[in-house]
Amino acid sequence: MKKSITDNSLEKIVSLCKRRGFVFPSSEIYDGFTAVYDFGPYGVELANNIKAAWWKAMTQFRDDVVGLDSAIFMNPKIWEASGHVSGFSDPLTECRKCHARLRLDFLLEEAGIMADEKMTEEEINEIFEKNKTKIKCPTCGAQDFTPGKNFNLLVQSNLGNFTGDWTKAPTYLRGETCQGIYVNFKNVLDSVRVKIPFGIAQIGKAFRNEITARQFIFRTREFEQMEMQYFIKPGDDKKYYEMWKEIRWQFYLDLGISADNLKWHQHEHLVFYAKEAYDIEYKYPFGFKEIEGLHMRGNYDLSQHSKFSGTDLNYLDPITNEKYIPHVVESSAGVGRIFLAVLNEAYQEEELEGGTRVVLKLAPHLAPIKIAVFPLLKNKPELVKKAREVYDLLKLKWRCEFDDNGNIGKRYRRQDEIGTPYCLTIDFDSMENDCVTVRNRDTMKQEVINIADLLKFFQEKI
Ligand code: GAP
Repeated sequence: MKKSITDNSLEKIVSLCKRRGFVFPSSEIYDGFTAVYDFGPYGVELANNIKAAWWKAMTQFRDDVVGLDSAIFMNPKIWEASGHVSGFSDPLTECRKCHARLRLDFLLEEAGIMADEKMTEEEINEIFEKNKTKIKCPTCGAQDFTPGKNFNLLVQSNLGNFTGDWTKAPTYLRGETCQGIYVNFKNVLDSVRVKIPFGIAQIGKAFRNEITARQFIFRTREFEQMEMQYFIKPGDDKKYYEMWKEIRWQFYLDLGISADNLKWHQHEHLVFYAKEAYDIEYKYPFGFKEIEGLHMRGNYDLSQHSKFSGTDLNYLDPITNEKYIPHVVESSAGVGRIFLAVLNEAYQEEELEGGTRVVLKLAPHLAPIKIAVFPLLKNKPELVKKAREVYDLLKLKWRCEFDDNGNIGKRYRRQDEIGTPYCLTIDFDSMENDCVTVRNRDTMKQEVINIADLLKFFQEKI
């Protein structure tokens, strides 16, 4: 009998990720590097599949969104215009006993006191002061902290600065990808046939000096964002905000995430230019947390870049001749957070007669390997040859894996653990009738399929 175990603690997922080549801690042989991770051979496939699903949904399947890939480094003035140099910060406190540096809003949250990173230094310190007796250092247990101070999250570099003192005029690794979209708004408008309303989407790395590294790949200092800025006529904000809320919610359902594990969270403390902001939250093993932000950003960013660059970023409506700085509805999601949600959702342990099987019930389009091809026996050259032929045929269309190691049961378990939806075995009957056995990961049922029909069969399934 099968039994699903739904208690997917984070430790189980972290362990699977390391064991089966999904995620490795960065620089591990040098004792690691805090809050940075590497995607292993199966991880890069899963991450690429998540990005491909997003790219298709956001650009290919739409007529009103185009893509972009802007550079990580940009003119530092961009980060002044965007407000990041002066205001992109999290509240930091230091334990006076063990000198651990901690995020103040997290400390308050853990003590059951509501606070968020959008509060001013004064607001958060007032709450901190009132609740000091309830808060303990998670490292040493002391209750003696320095007052909260806003700590800027931008990561600095010396790119292009040869003076020897680059700290005076640093360049920044981008803190969010969308600034690259804003500064290319005019280029896109002038080079591609787009009319408002339209969006620009991009996927790329972002960097933040996160104070507290927590929860595996949920909060990292280097991460990938998938962002789309939708440019609209002022006044149409609500209409398009609601439209994107629906579209983005559906995206998670299409990834195979259950609606019960998703919820909306409305921001109470908005950044001054935002009119409305909601997060889609996912129920991670450590509770409901943000997976994506949807923001009504008004015309703040384009106006700022117009002002700081001196370039007119007004839009001229070709029909009404109206001139205006477009407003923006933003969708901003993190690849790592979706990756973790998808794994958490897919991870199951099932009690079978022969023991427990760990299986990732990933949607086929997300699975790192779609089809595993096995010759029944490794030491029968005719079986291996035929299996190779089938593998060579299928690998042109799907990411496949050839495996002739160990008994078939063990090979199934290995593929179950990485979420491969189909395993295909070539046995002695295959030599006679040109048929193979295809085993379904979820039902574990087997079907016999003619080799000539395999492409059609998998085309329908994957
Ligand atoms: N342009 C808007 C923006 O960057 P955000 O709420 O700061 O908004 C958007 O970030 C998304 O980026 C988050 O919902 C999350 O998925 C991802 N993200 C942000 N910081 C992250 C971090 N330190 N590690 C991993 N993902 C992060």
